[in-house]
Parts: sequence; C-alpha cells; structure tokens
Amino acid sequence: MARVIAVFNQKGGVGKTTTAMNVAAYLGMFGKRTLLIDFDSQFNATVGVGTKHAADETIYHALLGGKRPEETIKQTYLANLHIVPASSELAGALIELVNLPERELYLRRFVDTVRPHYDFIFVDLGPSLNLLTINGLLASDEVIVPIQCEYYSLEGLNQVLQTLELVKNNLGHDIKISGALLTMYDRRERLSREIAKEIRRRFPFNVYEVEIPRSVSLAEAPSFKKPIMLYAPQSPGALAYERLAHEIIRQGGEPIAAYSHVGAEDGEVPAAEATPQAYAPETAQAVLAKAEEPIYPEDPLPLILHYHEGA
Ligand SMILES: Nc1ncnc2c1ncn2[C@@H]1O[C@H](COP(=O)(O)OP(=O)(O)O)[C@@H](O)[C@H]1O
Ligand SMILES: [Mg+2]
Repeated sequence: MARVIAVFNQKGGVGKTTTAMNVAAYLGMFGKRTLLIDFDSQFNATVGVGTKHAADETIYHALLGGKRPEETIKQTYLANLHIVPASSELAGALIELVNLPERELYLRRFVDTVRPHYDFIFVDLGPSLNLLTINGLLASDEVIVPIQCEYYSLEGLNQVLQTLELVKNNLGHDIKISGALLTMYDRRERLSREIAKEIRRRFPFNVYEVEIPRSVSLAEAPSFKKPIMLYAPQSPGALAYERLAHEIIRQGGEPIAAYSHVGAEDGEVPAAEATPQAYAPETAQAVLAKAEEPIYPEDPLPLILHYHEGA
C-alpha cells in the first residue's frame, strides 16, 4: 500500500512542484512504483514531466468527468513513474464541487482506488487554501512542506501548521508532517544560513537533513520536460533530491537498494555532459526505460509494458 504524500505550502514559488517532480522521479528510479498527481490548475508538474495525454484525460476528468482512474494515469520517461496530469480545467472543479455532497473527499476516493498499485503517491498542490487543497490534504497520509530560505518563510510555516490543525480539528484527519524541506538554500548568503538555522531550531517537527541548494539546473530541467536526473544528474540540485528521496524511504523504515554515486561533484555539470548514461544506471534497480532515447516515444506502450514486466 502506497504512502500518500502531499507537497504543501500555501505560499507559491517555494519549490513544491520541483520537489514533487524530482523526488517522485528518484523514487521511481530506485524501483519504487510511484505516482505523481498534479493537483494544481497551473499544471506545472504536468508540463515539467512532459506527459502525453488527451485533453480530456486529467485529474479533473477522473474526479468530475466520468473517466476511470486508469484512463488518466500516464506513463513518463521513467519506467516506475506515472503521472495523472492536470489542466486549467481543474480550477472549474472548485466551483463544481462546492454544492456536491462529500465535496472534500473526491481526491481521496480516487487515491484509495489506485493506492494498492503503488509504493508512493505524491500530490502536488497549488499555492492556495481552497477546496482543492483540502481534497489534497484529506487524500494524503503525510505532508512535506518545502520552505524557501528567505525572510518571510517562518510566517508561511505558521500558516501551514494552522491549516493542518484546522484539517485535524474540523475534518478529523490527522495528517502526519513528514518534514519541512529547506529549498533554494544558498550557503554563501548569511540570510539563507540564518533562516535555515532558525527553522531547524523552531520547527516542532522533522526538518529534512538535506538542504536543496539554489541550482539553475533545477529551474532549467522542466523546460526540457525532464526530471533533474535526466537533465543534469551530477548537479548539486540533483544530488540533493536524490538524498531527499533516500531520507523519505528511510522514514518508512525500508532498506535502500544498494546504490552509489560516482564522483559526485559540487559544481554544476554542463547540460551536454549530463547524459543519463553518466548516471551509472547499472547500479540503479529501476533504470530509466530506454535511457538512450532522448525524447518521448510516440507510442508509450513499450514503456508501460516494461513497467508491468518490472512490477
Ligand atoms: N532549488 C532551486 N533552485 C533554483 N530554482 C528553483 C529551485 N526550486 C525551484 N526553483 C524554481 O523556482 C520556481 C518556483 O518553483 P516551484 O517548484 O514551481 O514552486 P511552487 O510549486 O511552490 O510554486 C520555478 O521556476 C522553479 O524552477
Ligand atoms: Mg507548483
């Protein structure tokens, strides 16, 4: 049964989508069957992962358009990573849901149906607090809270804690805070260091050991529709998300598959050198499905078959 993890912070631009996409991708690469649900009407994760899907096969259509869950689950580049895409239509769900009974449980029902097929399900939430966010939180067991290392972030963190309290007290759903995650960390900046220190000191829950550095490759990778390990596998951002994936697996008490890095370096690697092959795929349990093919195949069927064979 999957661990269902929402990536949540009411603040926008703090690294939620970047975290959801890349952690999900690493977990997939480590052989974990992983589903990423894009639950933001800005659909950045859908674009960043580069899904091919029909316009009427998104999470909106699964929840309110009569599509079966499996019609909306799409294969990605990585054999073990699936995505349910979003589109701007998801914003309409807000209005449609308002008058429906059990309007806060639509995503939960979807997740419960697909849960037996995965080890991890990530829900990438938008930057607001509305009925969609509530659906996302009620569908999840755990939450990861990305926090940008900047001046106002402590305030944002308090808001997040308040929201989770409200969800617990009013809706009876006790979601576990798996951890806060420091993002866009720049150790050369005194402010960044101080805020990180302050959050570690004051946050009453786990703060992930790894700090996600500000790394231009992380911002560039989505425009190539690739998770970071296919774009710049040796970049500091990639290594950080890889470590985060390890931390998350460890939290579940599971052993981590034997896996090591060759020559992890501090500096950014130029994109041209950052081929998937450089990533020592033979040591990863679930290797990229067809790593040598740089772009999505027109026909996703071989990838899906590969996934099922591997499962
Ligand atoms: N560690 C990072 N280093 C550099 N840029 C980042 C990093 N994390 C995120 N970004 C960029 O910052 C912007 C906001 O990140 P995103 O993950 O979309 O935030 P959110 O989902 O919380 O709105 C995006 O353009 C993204 O590419
Ligand atoms: Mg986002």
